[in-house]
Amino acid sequence: MIKEFTKRFLSRFGYEIRKIPNRIERPGFTLYRFIKKDGTFDYEKYKQIQIDGNKSKIDWVWAVEENIAFLSDYIKKISGQPKFGICHGTRNGKEQEWFRKYLHCNVIGTEISDTAEHFPHTIQWDFHETKPEWINATDFIYSNSFDHSYNPHKCLNAWINCLKTGGLCIIEHTSNNEPSMATELDPFGADLVQILYLITRWGEGKYCVRELLEVPVKKNLLDNVGYAYFIAVQKL
Ligand SMILES: C[S@@+](CC[C@H](N)C(=O)[O-])C[C@H]1O[C@@H](n2cnc3c(N)ncnc32)[C@H](O)[C@@H]1O
Repeated sequence: MIKEFTKRFLSRFGYEIRKIPNRIERPGFTLYRFIKKDGTFDYEKYKQIQIDGNKSKIDWVWAVEENIAFLSDYIKKISGQPKFGICHGTRNGKEQEWFRKYLHCNVIGTEISDTAEHFPHTIQWDFHETKPEWINATDFIYSNSFDHSYNPHKCLNAWINCLKTGGLCIIEHTSNNEPSMATELDPFGADLVQILYLITRWGEGKYCVRELLEVPVKKNLLDNVGYAYFIAVQKL
């Protein structure tokens, strides 16, 4: 009743009340928003959705060992022998296990869920945040979980801040990360052209896309025409 009255009253002056959409959509881009009734960011909701998703798929492994071996060679070719790397959003920790095997250096994984404590070299940590000891001290970063970010601009800046100059941040981007695939669990979706544009724009001359690498072993793409790339971003 009050709502109807307010609506009609406002419409007389050319205003309308609309529900805040739960996602931002632009051509080639989708980002789910987690908003409390008072309009502020609902971090607890985001975190709980991620933790529930993590626990429901705790035995799944998306990363592929051959691809990690391929990336290890690439990292050595571009930046030399690394000492320290971080993988972000690692669930049961396979990618840090494989990077350690091929690179013979210290590699840790971050995981937002409390399941992190069950897996070696994994810490419970939200990848949008940084630790002081990581800043300008990390040789490489790898993630196939960028689509789980609630704020990809903040997230990528945080990751790049950790890199040494010349260090690589390798982001897996596949057709499963297209805007139409975004959900509350995978809040960020972008098509390939858009993500390359966004990284270039957000980089502001401090980082840029160095190379787009075809993923050697593609698995679980949702359709036959799917694509899979590693986007190698380099800190300048
Ligand atoms: C698609 S799964 C990928 C898991 C693993 N990398 C693999 O290859 O199987 C995404 C993982 O990222 C975790 N995650 C989501 N948001 C995160 C965040 N903000 N910080 C750290 N981990 C996060 C999820 O809990 C989940 O385990």
